[in-house]
Amino acid sequence: MDETQSPALLPHRGFKLIVGIHDPDDVDQIRDLEIRESDVFVVTYPKSGTIWMQQILLLLEAKGDVTAIGPPGKYSNAGLIPWIEVSGKRQAFIEAPSPRLRVTHLHHQLMPAALSERGKVIYVARNPKDVLVSYFHFHKVANMLETPKDFDDFFEKFLRGDVFGCSWFDHVKTWHSHKDDMDMLFITYEEMIQDLPSAVGRICVFLGKELTDEQLANVVKHSTFDNMKAMPPANYENVSGELLNHHQGRFMRKGTVGDWKNHFTVAQNERFDEVFDKEMKDFPLTLIWDIR
Ligand code: A3P
Repeated sequence: MDETQSPALLPHRGFKLIVGIHDPDDVDQIRDLEIRESDVFVVTYPKSGTIWMQQILLLLEAKGDVTAIGPPGKYSNAGLIPWIEVSGKRQAFIEAPSPRLRVTHLHHQLMPAALSERGKVIYVARNPKDVLVSYFHFHKVANMLETPKDFDDFFEKFLRGDVFGCSWFDHVKTWHSHKDDMDMLFITYEEMIQDLPSAVGRICVFLGKELTDEQLANVVKHSTFDNMKAMPPANYENVSGELLNHHQGRFMRKGTVGDWKNHFTVAQNERFDEVFDKEMKDFPLTLIWDIR
């Protein structure tokens, strides 16, 4: 472990795990998991809208009935759609009834190989500048992650990929390059912000679900930022103070596009653009966000 490495992170096959949350041996066994036709994985780089997609999937399953999701205080979105990579969750996945809905931040090479034959993947991507800002704030709330020295220090760590996970560039490029190897919906946070009803409609069609217009309207209604912010399960409010320091900030923080403009200096922005251009120059994806 070099000196710049956070002591809480464990580099493992190109992906940094969190000590105490992930077990590398457990993670290694994910690759060989059997996959069912009805399995759905939401894949995200951290802070790209995971909880939002969890909420949408839960509501689509419940046909828009928010009361069917579970009593507030008892469940969190992550309790209902768990992380596959967290210690102990793999066995529960094997035994779970269908449909098995899961979320993950894992890199493509660590995910079940059988996804190329069966199951569905929804990849949510977000403007990396906003991801960086959201991730910075989350590090102050999450006790399992190192509290950043300051924004500039975190900025450099993010660009180096010296954070839980890997570099944003590596994650999005690798997953996108495997888009056609599996049944994947690639969607952006910004598309969801721009037109949530249309995004929910696309997700519904992708999952092969049939909901009435009224049910779909309820899915949209209960997955807006303002409505989710008022729901304790969507804020991880029942997650213990040991993991999340609720006094440092809320999980549902701002939910906007372009908050990076309130955080980046001109020099940081230039530096980011330089790295972005270098990393993404051969990347075929047209992203809808305004990166500048
Ligand atoms: P901000 O910190 O920018 O507010 P994740 O679930 O992957 O950790 O992502 C969390 C980010 O998604 C936070 O971003 C959070 O506010 C935002 N988010 C969650 N639900 C949202 C919603 N319904 N609408 C817009 N943003 C949402």
